[in-house]
Amino acid sequence: MEELIREAASIVYASRMTIALTGAGVSVESGIPDFRSAGGLWSRFDPAEYATIDAFRSNPEKVWDMLKEMEALVIKARPNKAHRGMGELEKMGFLHAIITQNVDNLHQAGGSKNVIEYHGNSSTLSCLGCGKRYRADEKREGEFPPRCECRQILKPDVVFFGEAIPPEPMNRSFQLASMAQALLVVGTSAVVSPANTIPGLAKRSGARIIEINKERTHLTSSLTDVFLQGEAGEVIETLVLEVKRLAGTGDTPA
Ligand code: OAD
Repeated sequence: MEELIREAASIVYASRMTIALTGAGVSVESGIPDFRSAGGLWSRFDPAEYATIDAFRSNPEKVWDMLKEMEALVIKARPNKAHRGMGELEKMGFLHAIITQNVDNLHQAGGSKNVIEYHGNSSTLSCLGCGKRYRADEKREGEFPPRCECRQILKPDVVFFGEAIPPEPMNRSFQLASMAQALLVVGTSAVVSPANTIPGLAKRSGARIIEINKERTHLTSSLTDVFLQGEAGEVIETLVLEVKRLAGTGDTPA
């Protein structure tokens, strides 16, 4: 593992533009379960019944039962070592942007400024009827499920299956992926399209792919150049220390 960390750090150190693609695994150590691991959200809630826009339109009360549970976890979650380490990498100039599929704000809370939210953000709610938008926290104490002043049930501003990715994050992500020299893939199974086309695009454009995941994925044996298997918090903390050492800014033991 030490050798692999050194290899990954030297790629990041030498790269003129490094970006990251992150998924639910990066927030697991903050207490938010991922989707597809054993015990993940989709083992308890069938995504066809809870995560499609058609499901929301036909039975928003039912979908809100799941959303409420997730919201309770997200509200109390704090950034972990992975979020903070990536924030530090950005501050040092070694991470240009994070494309995240997460909707929990934890990268921003961990110090990252350039965060592209591919699947939206759960901190605002919109009305599918009249379009009015609300802060989620201002609706939390009121009626459940939360409703618009026009009485329609509100929907969080996150992308449901069957909905399009907003054009701005989609275009910026593809542009960055085609320019990056290195891509960190962190805590994602990379099975959901179109986010999962980002590693292939980056690779074809010449980027080295560093994958940090607890388990192997379909990328591991196809696109990944360096696979760092483990929990994102610990792996990223070690990676950041090694990048700092290369940059001459780390605390090196005497
Ligand atoms: P998944 O649940 O599909 O994948 C999570 C990945 O993180 C897996 O590869 C896990 O092995 C890994 N993992 C779990 N804990 C980890 C840890 N502590 N450290 C490192 N890796 C860990 O989640 P996503 O890939 O994010 O979209 O899922 C993508 C999309 O599917 C989500 O944005 C959501 C979901 O359906 C929508 O709902 C539209």
